[in-house]
Amino acid sequence: MSHTVDAAAPALSAAPAFDLAALRDDFPILSREVHGKPLVYLDNAATSQTPRQVIEVFNDYYSRYNANIHRGLHTLADEATGAFEGTRETVRAFLNAEDLRQIIFTRGTTEAINLVANSWGRANLGPDDEVLVSLLEHHSNIVPWQLLSREIGFTLKVIPVDTDGALDMAAYRGLLNERTKLVAVNHVSNALGTINPVTEMATLAHQAGAKILVDGAQATPHQMVDVQAIDADFYAFSGHKVYGPTGVGALYGKRELLEAMPPWQGGGEMISTVSFTEGTTFAAIPHKFEAGTPAIAEVIALRRALEWVQDVGIAAISDWEHQLLTYATQRVREIDGLRILGTAPHKAGVLSFVVEGAHSQDIGLLIDQLGVAIRTGHHCAQPLLHHFGVDATCRASFAAYNTLEEVDTFVAALKRVIDMVR
Ligand SMILES: Cc1ncc(COP(=O)(O)O)c(C=O)c1O
Repeated sequence: MSHTVDAAAPALSAAPAFDLAALRDDFPILSREVHGKPLVYLDNAATSQTPRQVIEVFNDYYSRYNANIHRGLHTLADEATGAFEGTRETVRAFLNAEDLRQIIFTRGTTEAINLVANSWGRANLGPDDEVLVSLLEHHSNIVPWQLLSREIGFTLKVIPVDTDGALDMAAYRGLLNERTKLVAVNHVSNALGTINPVTEMATLAHQAGAKILVDGAQATPHQMVDVQAIDADFYAFSGHKVYGPTGVGALYGKRELLEAMPPWQGGGEMISTVSFTEGTTFAAIPHKFEAGTPAIAEVIALRRALEWVQDVGIAAISDWEHQLLTYATQRVREIDGLRILGTAPHKAGVLSFVVEGAHSQDIGLLIDQLGVAIRTGHHCAQPLLHHFGVDATCRASFAAYNTLEEVDTFVAALKRVIDMVR
């Protein structure tokens, strides 16, 4: 689902389609104080908070069935394996993938992209080829391609953005040609919140004979994702941005691509047979790409996080975050000298801004003293920020549990801090 942000700000009485007070009760951390002030957590694009239902999974796992998976015949190993593989089905359904085997567990989006670069990239890219990334990318969807391009010699090209921070689709069309082998693009920009037209981009990439990898780190928490409708060749996301634990994420890939790809990391679990004389043969997908003991508890807890999202309803979350974003956008516009970066018509719940005469770093530190957690810095998107002529921005980003009152607290704190530093 995508939204436009030019709608009128919701009245303070606006409410989500879910019981917000009850939902907040799921998050123990939201009742803590920071520097003697109630925490207002607006750094959700960096990591979202974790509901108690997910935290309880860890307790349950380590108290009752902590065991290594797949290889054990005993009851605990069986229970752990069942729970672990259960998450694979939940992720499959969450992304609407065709087949369980298309879901590979990784440490997160970064590792998923590195897997594609090192496996698919090494096997399929040559010195005359081109890979397109966008200017909106997180460093995790730039640097793996730069590293590989240094070795292989393919050309990395950049899809530009317009002044609102929307991708320049005419330029994208112009960049695609018969040498383009891959388009690597995020679904939603972490730095600006821009929602990219990935379905249209996939169609165009495929017409040019290229594959498309979609970085869904910022999309999965905020909107329904259907990898088949997008026709993504690869889709990656991180658990910790979608109310789940750190250290776990997933890569979706089209079956024929994954089956043809060579393994990346070698070790236990990813083999069929190992021999010094006959050579080694590899397991079928997805295990071919899951070497070593994975983050078992985290994978199991990810299932609970995705179920939690489904229970609340991703459409309701998306609508509520949009109301928060619209309200916050209107409120910060009251502040003299504040410039919003990222005013694309389709945006998710990210509000990035700079303030004339006030360094972003100072704002971040001082507003924390008032209990408000926002992010300041380059958001791992240095090329994009440099394009906008800045080194750092302040970024407030929203999740299901945020309230309009928290937006008011944030704006009041921001005004106070700006008065202090100017
Ligand atoms: C758009 C985007 N891509 C990739 C990443 C990297 O995710 P992780 O650090 O969980 O691997 C992030 C994290 O901020 C992100 O926002």
